[in-house]
Amino acid sequence: MFIKSEQSEDFTKLGKILDFPVFRLIFSRTTKNLNRYEFVFFLMDNISFKGRDIISIRDFSKKELLYVLSISKKIEKNPDLNLLKNKIASLLFFEPSTRTRLSFSSAMQRLGGNTIGFAQSDVSSIKKGETLWDTIKMVEQYSDVIIMRHPLEGAARLAAEAASIPVINAGDGSNQHPTQTLLDLYTIQKEKGGLENLNVGFLGDLKYGRTVHSLAIALSHFNAKMFFISPKALSMPKHYLEELSQKKIKFTEVENVFKVSKELDVLYVTRIQKERFADAIEYEKYKNSYRLNKSLLANSKKDIVIMHPLPRVGEINPELDETPNAIYFKQAGNGIPVRQALLALVLGKIK
Ligand code: CP
Repeated sequence: MFIKSEQSEDFTKLGKILDFPVFRLIFSRTTKNLNRYEFVFFLMDNISFKGRDIISIRDFSKKELLYVLSISKKIEKNPDLNLLKNKIASLLFFEPSTRTRLSFSSAMQRLGGNTIGFAQSDVSSIKKGETLWDTIKMVEQYSDVIIMRHPLEGAARLAAEAASIPVINAGDGSNQHPTQTLLDLYTIQKEKGGLENLNVGFLGDLKYGRTVHSLAIALSHFNAKMFFISPKALSMPKHYLEELSQKKIKFTEVENVFKVSKELDVLYVTRIQKERFADAIEYEKYKNSYRLNKSLLANSKKDIVIMHPLPRVGEINPELDETPNAIYFKQAGNGIPVRQALLALVLGKIK
């Protein structure tokens, strides 16, 4: 009631109430840098990304997901080459990356912005014992947005607490990879003509695969039916399945892809995540669990699309690359407009 009032004094009163520490604590993660009126706008369920951290796909409503995809489409069609002029992004990569790091860098530069940063943790002062918190307190003074990949789950959230500029999670351990999810949704929307009511298979290392975790949560907004295909030891963590059950999302778990392939509109393949295994012998046991080739297509819908966040390490035979069903390279290319949209939104260059 209070929020809907158009009286400016009411907004002022509301702003004062919202200045209480408890409210700051609750909302600081998603409303960093918003002034009082922008904050009220946020509470009225109008979309505002300015100053926001992008940490988990759970922080997005369905409306917000669709909004980012619509901005991505506009930017892809008609990019403004000076949109991010005089803006600097820090790329802090404590884990290896090809696509995420380079596509963020390209996205920034193609809109007139610049990047600084590092691609290995041992070239930063963390190597000398500096904490992540102190590193972020430095980097925020040198740039306008921080894009960080880190092996520890929760590291992106910690960086966001430390920083007064937006932090974008480029992958934190086995937890989340929200920008990958946005480009995955963008790809599915383009290739299947929409996101609602699709049958989506997730295949591979579902225990450690952060891209799967993020995408399953995102697709739960769109009434997807999900098929989790993995060895039992690498199945989807229970808490994700519980979350999907609570949202009344239908899912099945199988080991053999051919048991469900005829039902699928999308097959999202992932590699077995060697770097997350504590025991190298365990990895050896599972590394060859899946080897997809053209026989999959003979047992699938004609228009199934095969996606993969990449890198692949043998789970998709290159003989599939030439088929119209294989869209993983196009998928990686979609990282550019989606990351451009996110950068422009959190930097307040697009409302
Ligand atoms: N998809 C993905 O995150 O790739 P990189 O590890 O190469 O960034």
